[in-house]
Amino acid sequence: MEVRVADDPHAAASAAAALIARRLRDAVRRRGRASIAVSGGSTPGVMFDVLSTLDVPWAAVTVFQVDERIAPDGDPDRNAVQLHDHLVAATPLRPAQVRLMPVTVARLPAAAERYGKLVAAAAPLDVVHLGMGDDGHTASWPPGDPVIDSPRAVDLCAEYNGRRRMTLTPGPVNAARLRVLLVAGAAKRPMLERLLAGDRTLPVARVRRSGTVIFADVAAAPPLLPR
Ligand code: 6PG
Repeated sequence: MEVRVADDPHAAASAAAALIARRLRDAVRRRGRASIAVSGGSTPGVMFDVLSTLDVPWAAVTVFQVDERIAPDGDPDRNAVQLHDHLVAATPLRPAQVRLMPVTVARLPAAAERYGKLVAAAAPLDVVHLGMGDDGHTASWPPGDPVIDSPRAVDLCAEYNGRRRMTLTPGPVNAARLRVLLVAGAAKRPMLERLLAGDRTLPVARVRRSGTVIFADVAAAPPLLPR
């Protein structure tokens, strides 16, 4: 895993957005289309804001979700709210290009399977954006949750931080051409240190090392990493 350390969270988010934009441009130039799956949480908002200002051929881009909380449309817990407010509303992306996870339907397992088919049709994704929790989770792979070993492309985890979640599993995440892991803040340093030291017990350690770039701010980065 390549690690790029930036001075502060905004600089880390901006550097991540620049790499993502470059990869989306390359994909459209080579294949006429591009796909990205994005995570939620508190960190991505700044990255989406920067990404929305960069040169990206949005008309040829399809946006998927890495994970989504099982909550009503418009609920502030939904990752879709941040995605809309900080990226979709600020770019020419049309609703048909944004494949939101179907988390408000009655039969969630069947909905997860349908979403898995959508992702499979776009595979390999050009970019998967990930965050990391201070417990070492990524996507919605909570520590100890069996979802991380699911044979399905998209599945459901048990309740975590008050919500069940629908999530991509390691299969489609690791099949993507590029993974961008954005980590900011001192609370993340212990887990980032363990990840880089080779601790395979962390959920985030199931992310493929090759083809993954970690963007961290100084606060999250272990002290010996080059700047
Ligand atoms: C979610 C996210 C989750 C996130 C990490 C880091 O639905 O909460 O997808 O996996 O990436 O929890 O979250 P922060 O960005 O808030 O640190």
